[in-house]
Formats: sequence, C-alpha cells, structure tokens
Amino acid sequence: MEWLQLFDPEPSAGAARVDSLFWLLTALSSAVTLAIVITATVFVYRYWHQRPADRERPPAHVRRRVELTWTSLTLVAFLFLFLWGASLFAYVNMLAAPEGAIEVYALGKQWMWKIQHENGKREINTLHVPRGEPVRVILTSQDVIHSFYLPEFRAKKDAVPGLYTELWFVPERTGVYTLACSEYCGTAHARMRGRLVVLEPEDYARWLAAGEPQGLAAAGAQKFRALGCSGCHSPRSTVRAPSLAGLYGRPVPLQGGGTVRADEAYLRDSILLPRKHVVAGFAPIMPSFQGQVGEEAIIELIAYIKSLADEERIRGE
Ligand code: CUA
Repeated sequence: MEWLQLFDPEPSAGAARVDSLFWLLTALSSAVTLAIVITATVFVYRYWHQRPADRERPPAHVRRRVELTWTSLTLVAFLFLFLWGASLFAYVNMLAAPEGAIEVYALGKQWMWKIQHENGKREINTLHVPRGEPVRVILTSQDVIHSFYLPEFRAKKDAVPGLYTELWFVPERTGVYTLACSEYCGTAHARMRGRLVVLEPEDYARWLAAGEPQGLAAAGAQKFRALGCSGCHSPRSTVRAPSLAGLYGRPVPLQGGGTVRADEAYLRDSILLPRKHVVAGFAPIMPSFQGQVGEEAIIELIAYIKSLADEERIRGE
C-alpha cells in the first residue's frame, strides 16, 4: 500500500516488523475512537433531557452479558498487544550486535552529536556508515539525557550521562537519513539534528581513510601513559595491578565472589569508580579518575584497552 508509506520503506532489517505493530495500534485506536464518538452521539440524541426515556437501572442483559463481553475481549486484546510488543522489543533491543560489527562511539552534548570512529576519525552531527554491515553505536552523554534517534531505521536509544548504552542496525540501502535527538534536552533540543550517510563499502573505506586520523587506540595509549596508568598496569610495574592484556570481553572474578564481564561499561566504571568492582586478589588502591578525564578521553582509553584484547587474541592464534 503505497499511500501508507509515511516513512522510507525499510532501509534497515527489522523496520517492517515495527511498522506492522504501529499500524495495528493506529487501526485499533481509530476503531475505538470511532465507536466512542458514535455511541456518544446516539446517547446524546436518545437521552436528551426533554426526551421521554427509561432512565432507571439498565436491563439485565446489558448488566451481565455486555459487561462480561467487553471486559474479556479487551483483556485478550491487551494481552495480545503486550506479547507482540514485548517480543518486538526483545527482537529490536535485547539481541546483542553481531560479532565483528563496526563500532562507533556517539557522545551527546548540548546540543550536538559527537561521533568517534574506531580509527580516530571524528565528525559532528553526521554519521557515515557502509551499506550492508552491522553498525554498533555505543552511546553516552556529557551533560543531560539525550536520545539517539534514527527514525527511518526505527532505532532509538537514550544517551545517559555516566552510562554506556548501545544500539545496532544494518543499513541496507545507501542514502542520507535523519539523525535526531528525541529526548527534550534544553533550549536547542529541536536543532540537535544530523544526518546518517550510508555509503557503498568502497566509498566508505575511502571516506574513513581520508585525512589520516590518529587511531582512537593510539590516542588512548598516549593518555594511558600521560595519566600514569602504565605505572601500575604494565607487566614490568612493581605495583601489582590487574593486567589489561586480553581483558576486554572476558569474565572478571571479583573480590567477595561473583564475576562481571569486561565490557565498555565495566572499563568505564573501573576508570571512574575503581572501588565498584575490585578484582579478586587485588587491593582497592587505584585512585578514581573522576573529573580528570572527559568522556572523549575515556572512549580513547577504552579503545586502547580493547586493542590490547585484540593483540592478545592474535598472539594466541
Ligand atoms: Cu539532545 Cu534533545
């Protein structure tokens, strides 16, 4: 149905599934609205105060059968909608991004999106991605809550200060799409907009390499030394601190039992709140770097620690 296409038809996998629920909800709400308007009009006519009508208790069949019917029907309808919505939510939000997805860091701040690519390339309010490859966007905010919204892809996730959230999608057609902030974040919220540019893989590779950016991991390595992290975390150090090689993605045993997976959120917490997860067998002596490193520097440090994970994997093979 062409006329129903309010949005771009499926530039990404999964969009059509979101649309069918959207249209069903729209149709149901319209039907209910229409029924209410018709009933109200009929009743206004029938029970107008000058009109003779039976205004006593409603007839027995209305009290029992009608009441039972509409209660059970709406119950079933709402349960059905709930199950559909929940499974769709799980499909869109809960599935982890596929292994090997392109990783992009997006930092929300009043009022722009700052994007950092893995090779260190930065852009503002524009995100370039290649067609046909899964893209994993890791989000955070520098000030208030923003929401990273790609309407054509039916993809949306809040960017929350002090937290990493993520969203992923597979762009299936080249073109320029909308990027917006969909959480009211202050005066210029409405202008916190940008573009998602989907390029052919060759064009993307050319775009990414242009300008010879310093890699995120390389920038992180510099900060790692400048902040003194290497003093304790290098293999030659006399202070005993957990080794970071091969850390990313692994389960970490904690002091007092339990484990936690070393993902981006864990690495971030370990830099800012080192007492939150103390690694089993180590003393809680690491100082917090809260207030000393900005969000962009944390992203670089994390990229550096992740690159150590890669090195380890290569050496192990
Ligand atoms: Cu950022 Cu609204």
